[in-house]
Amino acid sequence: MSDSNDRSSHRLYPGRVLAGQKPRPPRYAHIVGWGMEVPEQVLTNRDLEAIVDTNDEWITTRTGIKERRIAAQHETTTTLATRAAQKALDVADILPSELDLIIVATATPEHIFPSTASLVQDRLGATNAGAFDLSAACSGFVYALDVAASKIRTGSVNTVLVIGAETLSRVVDWADRGTCILFGDGAGAVVLEGSSVPGGILSSVLRSDGTGWDLLTLPTVSSRDTYLQDGQHEMHRIYMDGRGVFRFATRVIGESIKEALEQVGLQPDDLDLVIPHQANQRIIVYAAKTLKIPEERVYSNVARYGNTSAASIPIALAEAAAEGRIKAGDIVAFVGFGGGLTWAAMVVEWTAVPSKQAYTLTRGRRKGEYALASVRRSVVRWWRRLMLLSPTTWIVAARRVLTQQRAQFRERRSELRERAQRVMEREGRSKSDRSADAEPSDKEARE
Ligand code: COA
Repeated sequence: MSDSNDRSSHRLYPGRVLAGQKPRPPRYAHIVGWGMEVPEQVLTNRDLEAIVDTNDEWITTRTGIKERRIAAQHETTTTLATRAAQKALDVADILPSELDLIIVATATPEHIFPSTASLVQDRLGATNAGAFDLSAACSGFVYALDVAASKIRTGSVNTVLVIGAETLSRVVDWADRGTCILFGDGAGAVVLEGSSVPGGILSSVLRSDGTGWDLLTLPTVSSRDTYLQDGQHEMHRIYMDGRGVFRFATRVIGESIKEALEQVGLQPDDLDLVIPHQANQRIIVYAAKTLKIPEERVYSNVARYGNTSAASIPIALAEAAAEGRIKAGDIVAFVGFGGGLTWAAMVVEWTAVPSKQAYTLTRGRRKGEYALASVRRSVVRWWRRLMLLSPTTWIVAARRVLTQQRAQFRERRSELRERAQRVMEREGRSKSDRSADAEPSDKEARE
């Protein structure tokens, strides 16, 4: 940008150009790996008929959803995210230790802190990566991709893992037929890598309209009491105004994709595939209509997984790639929308050509790093517990051990003394008995 176009130049003190600040060649962020993981447990529309007053026909015609996946007891947002990430690293043929940054988009983290991203970082053994979670509900994955691509373009990082992961079944109100039929669990991940080769992520549009915050909510720790006492909302439960969200979604999908296309001089007709957030088949069909593209160019797997929020786009992307629906040179658009209200669109030139040979070569090393990570986890945690003791705690602990040992020593010593005493007494008694037997009395001696 020239000085005359720089809106802030008049307010800034001109900093020095340091010797290390060399002008960098332009960098492009490419998607080089992808993967997905869903729980095995399937919940069909028929299964739902036993839970709430609904039926397969209503769910199918209003949403297009036939079944969704539900996390088992042992599965968490972190475990699903980790498995999806491992698959994406396999496709990218990258070691966990080569990652610079991990971003997890999720609305269902296990903790507010630590972030799910930090837990994934630990499980992968990505020891050189920064990690944070990103909260933008169902738009989260596209937001996270944009943040990752921007960091790659600045040259501050080169290899980023972006994950969308959810266990929505744990926050769904299973008594509310208007919402529980929609959501499912799963995770999808991509690996982004910087390169001077043009292509990859071309443009993006991120938007928010907080006036619609109450159309889709999931209250958590610091929610106001008044909000929770209205009889409609509950802590850690999804609330949704379905019609309001439907109207919002159908308005923003087409608009935002067109805006992202305009940024790079493309038209909807240039799109080879659109991968929208998988919320409702009617919304997906509507997207095709507004963009005036055939429905086959809008990817859908909502029938099999339902709405998996931040995970839905990367899951759909991984499936589309596996099915051969995307090939090198294709122009692909992602569009997400959801709570916030937030929405985000992105245009990508697909450049990945995965190499099977390299994949097998480094697979073992990746497995080694995962194994090392699990050993390191327990050793480091044990060691940290020791190290976390303050010097005073160390001194008090050492004193306690010394005092205990001294007391044990004293006890043992007195025990030994008593035993010796008893032995001596016993020996003394038997000696005197023997001498009494052996020595003649004075009278006997005289005689
Ligand atoms: N089974 C049977 N009937 C149901 C039902 C269910 N699971 N859920 C609601 N109904 C009933 C309602 O009670 C209502 O009955 P009534 O007319 O007697 O009051 C009727 O069906 C219509 O309800 P309505 O909410 O108007 O349905 P809809 O056509 O708007 O469809 C959604 C509901 C949720 C499918 C739809 O609004 C939607 O998809 N919205 C967007 C949701 C979304 O994408 N959310 C995530 C964004 S990230």
